[in-house]
Amino acid sequence: MRKPIIAGNWKMHKTTAEARQLVYETRTDLAALTAVDVVLCPPFTALAEVAGLVADTPIRIGAQNAHWEPDGAYTGEISAGMLAEFCDYVILGHSERRAMFGETDEGVNRKVHAALGAGLIPIVCVGETFEENQADRTGEVVVRQVRAALAGLDADTVAGLVVAYEPVWAIGTGLAAEPDGAAAVIRDFIRGPVGEAFGSGAAETLRVQYGGSVKPDNAGAFFSMDDIDGALVGGASLKAADFIGIVRAAM
Ligand code: PGA
Repeated sequence: MRKPIIAGNWKMHKTTAEARQLVYETRTDLAALTAVDVVLCPPFTALAEVAGLVADTPIRIGAQNAHWEPDGAYTGEISAGMLAEFCDYVILGHSERRAMFGETDEGVNRKVHAALGAGLIPIVCVGETFEENQADRTGEVVVRQVRAALAGLDADTVAGLVVAYEPVWAIGTGLAAEPDGAAAVIRDFIRGPVGEAFGSGAAETLRVQYGGSVKPDNAGAFFSMDDIDGALVGGASLKAADFIGIVRAAM
């Protein structure tokens, strides 16, 4: 059985003071839900604060991006090794970074290798845009993103990764995908190609989240799907009761 994993992607929200407040409101409840791996992904500036507040709990910390080089003249960037001081996970290739900050499949692959080299577990985001979806290109796009992101890894490493299937049209829109449709994409276009490239063991062990307008009232339907192992949660992770409700739905 794959253990469910639910990550809260806070995006560019929360000062350290606001982050502290949200952790105070959620920490006790989240820490008790030990059948689920819970990962909080605050902005870089709040990583140390949040990591300190949950240090004695099973709650884990993730960053929202990393650079692929270990150090050097890259003004404004942060390396995976620097993040490993605070984090166990790192979100890579989020659609907002692909769409607004020029991230490419090749760049995501370099970041995946860098993260693993620093001991972080990547949460690799893939997903099609509305136009690609409407043009029946979901499979082509998701398979390409998965193959590119995981290129050069071995089967054991892939088995330990997390992939987040986030249809871009469902992110922040309130229009979540249909759970069975998302599960079919994950089965056919994520586990399928992973199985071809790395073997059925990796395909079955890899954890795959759904992301895009997950709320407490729709989360259970996603988690009831065999191929969906949790969620990457944006907006609802900023509200204490909503995020706790989503994690509870995975119990
Ligand atoms: P959302 O964001 O839950 O607000 O749709 C999900 C994400 O971008 O990871």
